[in-house]
Amino acid sequence: MAILVPQCLARLMLILLLIGVSNAQLSSNFYSSSCPNLLSIIRTAVNSAVSSDSRMGASLLRLHFHDCFVALKGPSWAIALGRRDSTTASLSNANSQIPGPGNNLNALITAFSNKGFTAREMVALSGSHTIGQARCTTFRNRIYNEANINATFATSTRANCPRSGGDNTLSPLDVATPTAFNNDYYRNLISLKGLLHSDQQLFNNGSTDAQVRAYSTNSASFFNDFAAAMVKMTNLSPLTGTNGQIRRNCRRTN
Ligand code: HEM
Ligand SMILES: *[C@@H]1O[C@H](CO)[C@@H](O)[C@H](O)[C@H]1NC(C)=O
Ligand SMILES: *[C@@H]1O[C@H](CO)[C@@H](O)[C@H](O)[C@H]1NC(C)=O
Repeated sequence: MAILVPQCLARLMLILLLIGVSNAQLSSNFYSSSCPNLLSIIRTAVNSAVSSDSRMGASLLRLHFHDCFVALKGPSWAIALGRRDSTTASLSNANSQIPGPGNNLNALITAFSNKGFTAREMVALSGSHTIGQARCTTFRNRIYNEANINATFATSTRANCPRSGGDNTLSPLDVATPTAFNNDYYRNLISLKGLLHSDQQLFNNGSTDAQVRAYSTNSASFFNDFAAAMVKMTNLSPLTGTNGQIRRNCRRTN
């Protein structure tokens, strides 16, 4: 079953709403009196942004991951509302806490475990790469120098990512169905078509191979695990109450 991105985002929002995510201070009705129409306003804005640019869904999803791991920014499309903005911004923290495309399986497991996620949750969350794109510079080494890559895939991807230059040229993270949120990401890994080195690490004769195989044949199990892990990520050490601030300009501290 393939779900197109806009519908997927809407569905994810719905799942989060239904689960009624709440902890001490984040809650799904945080804005119920101050801005009662907030959710429909966000939903309309997200739907129109995604329909005019299919990559917008991917950008929002990735932003969510990066924000939650470092807790730098405020309310986005996440449904547990009431997050506040950090009074600090650290490029070095962002770079050291967020795993990179050159990471091996152990480093990926460690980066997620440092934030309280199991290897299983890491594999589920990585399924986000069923949508979106990556710049040539993030996978050049893989397509020219690695052995655990499908030769046909390497050749076609090289056409769009030269040995030198073209650093910012984009390729889809999921070569099979680039804009559909489905389990093709895992099927690709089994045919050695992971775009990033870090992607292929999830299926490289290691401890996560079995889970990749399972998701590749059972998308319901991937969707369930993914939604649960996204809810958990939403609740990662958010700034709430009187902590943090609400930035006037999202790009910088007040
Ligand atoms: C497992 C560790 C991960 C690594 C090493 C990683 C790395 C990357 C890299 C290098 C890119 C391309 C960025 C660029 O070219 O500028 C990317 C894109 C993306 N990542 Fe990840 N990522 C990881 C996990 C995640 C998670 C957990 C999520 C969301 C829950 C996520 C969502 C996305 C999305 C949606 C895109 C596409 C963005 C777009 O098209 O604009 N990634 N990731
Ligand atoms: C590599 O990709 C081709 C074309 O998509 C496919 O037929 C083949 O089975 C893949 N190879 C492996 C090892 O999965
Ligand atoms: C796993 O090990 C086998 C046997 O050594 C090897 O042929 C294969 O290329 C390795 N990598 C993957 C991703 O399966």
